[in-house]
Amino acid sequence: MHDPSDAGGLIEVTRRSGVQILRINRPKKKNALTDAMYRALTEAMAAAEADDAIGAHLFTGVQGVFTAGNDIGDFIARASGAGGLGAGVSGFLTMLAEARKPMVAAVDGLAIGIGTTMLWQCDLVYASPGARFATPFIDLGLVPENGSSLIAPRLMGHQRAFEMLCLGEGWDAARAHAAGWVNAIVPAERLEAHALDVAARLAAKPRTALIESRRLLRGDPAERLAAMRREAALFAERIASPEARAAFTAFMNRKGG
Ligand code: COA
Repeated sequence: MHDPSDAGGLIEVTRRSGVQILRINRPKKKNALTDAMYRALTEAMAAAEADDAIGAHLFTGVQGVFTAGNDIGDFIARASGAGGLGAGVSGFLTMLAEARKPMVAAVDGLAIGIGTTMLWQCDLVYASPGARFATPFIDLGLVPENGSSLIAPRLMGHQRAFEMLCLGEGWDAARAHAAGWVNAIVPAERLEAHALDVAARLAAKPRTALIESRRLLRGDPAERLAAMRREAALFAERIASPEARAAFTAFMNRKGG
């Protein structure tokens, strides 16, 4: 079996008040997510799903960064290797669609790519005033992932979803709050405590009633999984395309290196 320690502590897992807190902790690389980090997230979530002591998941990052999205070095390796999304990320996306317990996020600073699309899978999202959300898939020669082609238009309407996913220029916390997918803007110094408090309140509720209610609200996960499969087929084509390779190389060489 895969050893989550491969992520080398870059995913910090703690538990408090019935909540499992997953902290993305790779600040030197703006919390960019590698395959091993996705696996560590998935394994920790699976353990929490199976543990009656845990009633909710809480995702957070470090000061000023939630995550800069998928590691672009990993994208390059996929583009020249096996292609597609990779087993680590695919497993994590499946877990986000299938998790039964509520998912809460606390976002300070940057949330890019999957850093934003994973919030659209969450049930409650809290952001600091300095949060910044962007989904630059098109600029990277890619297509949206994580069921976002299905979920984003439902969350905020076609035009706003199109602006976010296809114009890809990024929104601040106020814009995301106005669009309805940030529950509240909370000062950075109180953000995590606030999100933990709300998650703990959820975790303390009658468990089965909460899980069943959440499932009624979200609908059958099969719908999200089908959207992910459609997206993944196109993503696999795009990641190896000249457009995507040029965008990845431009990022890697942007400092003239
Ligand atoms: N993948 C791999 N490395 C990344 C990364 C990513 N997604 N995002 C940031 N990093 C790395 C940088 O390469 C840099 O590493 P280095 O110090 O070894 O050169 C380090 O993190 C710090 O990033 P830097 O670009 O110097 O910081 P910045 O404040 O100028 O810019 C970002 C921060 C997040 C705006 C910028 O790094 C960025 O645009 N990242 C890519 C985001 C992205 O497109 N993600 C994929 C979405 S699908």
